[in-house]
Amino acid sequence: MSLPSATSENRAVVTGASSGIGTALAAELAARGYSLILVARRGEVLTELAQRLTLAHGITAEVRAVDLADRAARGALVEELAARDISILCNNAGIATFGAVAELDPAYERDQMELNAVAVHDLTLAVLPGMIARGSGGILISGSAAGNMPIPNNATYAASKAFANTFSESLRGELKGSGVHVTLLAPGPVRTDTPDPAEASIVDRMVPDFMWVTSEYTAKISIDALARNKMRVVPGLISKGMSVAGQYGPRALTAPVAGAFYKKLGG
Ligand SMILES: NC(=O)c1ccc[n+]([C@@H]2O[C@H](COP(=O)([O-])OP(=O)(O)OC[C@H]3O[C@@H](n4cnc5c(N)ncnc54)[C@H](OP(=O)(O)O)[C@@H]3O)[C@@H](O)[C@H]2O)c1
Repeated sequence: MSLPSATSENRAVVTGASSGIGTALAAELAARGYSLILVARRGEVLTELAQRLTLAHGITAEVRAVDLADRAARGALVEELAARDISILCNNAGIATFGAVAELDPAYERDQMELNAVAVHDLTLAVLPGMIARGSGGILISGSAAGNMPIPNNATYAASKAFANTFSESLRGELKGSGVHVTLLAPGPVRTDTPDPAEASIVDRMVPDFMWVTSEYTAKISIDALARNKMRVVPGLISKGMSVAGQYGPRALTAPVAGAFYKKLGG
């Protein structure tokens, strides 16, 4: 069973479409003929993207400027999606913080949980009944290699992505034979833009150029994997290495090593 064909009625939803992997997922889906609902807070960026994709691919692209960390604002989108024919949902919007959680802004940490975990749960539950009733659909969840292990100095992010990773792979098991595909995208570092050398992070400086994967490559292999109902897609060598270390390394060892590295990111 493959993904639902694109029609003039159905929509592929991409959250976090105003930047990085989300923009690339929207472009990849538009190139495959899917009409879109683009979600993020910056409506003007989404509108520009919608116009560009409509012109290039002759699809329809609707814009929803929604703060997904805000329960009330999210609720209106959840209601809309539950009532519409959603062929594909890419739960991709996410934010990260670095540093000791006790020293970070509690309100922003809470928003991170709302966006990275609760919104993923809400939007998925909104589209699931329709997909199951139609016997087809695709749900891509952007988790992270960081969700495979404890990471001191990245605690809220790692924990929220542990939710995303485990929810995706658990849900996939429940939907076996239903026609609904669920794939986890669990990347390590993905280069979403060219870093300014003056502002390059420690990750930018340490990882040689040839080892980076791009948003476009990540988006393409993610939609290919979703079409084949693969359990998990891990783009690039670094991501694969992180994935193996995080899943099979003893936590007592990986936690302090990862924590020391992320402490530098927090600084
Ligand atoms: N890039 C990587 O190296 C990497 C590695 C592992 C996992 N991931 C995961 O992959 C996903 C995409 O990453 P990325 O690097 O492409 O991210 P990004 O470039 O930072 O983009 C994040 C997207 O999320 C949206 N967003 C942020 N807060 C939001 C909110 N409160 N409500 C609605 N939308 C919100 C942003 O749009 P607005 O600002 O317009 O709202 C933007 O479109 C994330 O879930 C991330 O955790 C990325």
